[in-house]
Amino acid sequence: MMAGSSSGLPTRVTLVEVGPRDGLQNETQPVATPLKIELIERLVQAGISKLEAAAFVSPKWVPQMADGAEVLGRVMRRPGVVYAALVPNLQGFEAALAVRADEVVVFSAASETFCRKNINCSIAESIERFAPVCQAARSAGIAVRGSISCSLGCPYEGPVRPDAVARVARLMKEIGVQQIGVADTIGVGTPRATRDAFEAVLAVYPLQDVSGHFHDTYGQALANVYACLQMGISTFDASVAGLGGCPFARGATGNVATEDVLYLLNGLQIETGVDMTRLVQIGQWISGVLGRKAATRAGNAINARATQAG
Ligand code: HMG
Ligand code: MG
Repeated sequence: MMAGSSSGLPTRVTLVEVGPRDGLQNETQPVATPLKIELIERLVQAGISKLEAAAFVSPKWVPQMADGAEVLGRVMRRPGVVYAALVPNLQGFEAALAVRADEVVVFSAASETFCRKNINCSIAESIERFAPVCQAARSAGIAVRGSISCSLGCPYEGPVRPDAVARVARLMKEIGVQQIGVADTIGVGTPRATRDAFEAVLAVYPLQDVSGHFHDTYGQALANVYACLQMGISTFDASVAGLGGCPFARGATGNVATEDVLYLLNGLQIETGVDMTRLVQIGQWISGVLGRKAATRAGNAINARATQAG
């Protein structure tokens, strides 16, 4: 872990931008492929070094992600930047491999009902599907991250116990998933629940391989990010302009906005390599294109000041 000596917080954080995937997957109107590509390229220009660019899932389940091959195939790649893709099975992995995804993300859940609603199988079956993905990824030299949905609560089952999260983490570790994302899919968690879930997962994976993924439904996402920082967690998913949500998690709003997390990190003097001015402009631009106000307090405040000044 990289921890600042005085504060105990990490000195550097990696922001994994998930707007192009978790953000756009939830849009009901079609989003044109060139727009997705432009979004990714602009985010990289703003200093994002890792992002979820696409999902290779069933187009019947998530029509908005059907153009993943085109997006990853045509986007201009910057060396050193990790372009990741979500894959639910070997079929998805092969599609991601064909367009040279740098990393794949397999995704299960800490709750059986959500797992079934999201990927149409039990948790145990999801692990059986991911095992050959891990094997194939290892042969191809591609990194595998795992994501555990509903780690802090489930829209169908309610509260989720930390040991249920740790159990899925262990199953993922056993099949060779290298990094693990603990996800509050419906944004219900508070810092205490966050600490409990992450502590349970840290008994399975080392600190540097654990990341946080928070949705902001109840306005707790930044508090939860801070709770994670205090534990030394140094990788967070976030979505520009707070885009997104999961089509299979009723009532859940978007991810915590990248602008808001960046504002927090900048204030804590934690390095990210991401340029706030550019990021804010991207958030305002994509929100305008999608016909809505950006769901970011920091981004909107910075934009309002710039507009007044300018
Ligand atoms: P299924 O219907 O049980 O799958 O769906 P199947 O194996 O029986 O196949 C049925 C059809 O799907 C077949 O086509 C397959 O070819 C096709 P048909 O013969 O009917 O024409 N198919 C695929 N097509 C493209 N790519 C694939 C693929 N696999 C099968 N990879 C399946 C099972 C997992 C495919 C489906 O349930 C699915 O795609 N679910 C995706 C759900 C999803 O994308 N959810 C949102 C992302 S997760 C999320 O947002 C949470 C996260 O952000 C963290 C958090 O916040 O919690 C990560
Ligand atoms: Mg999500």
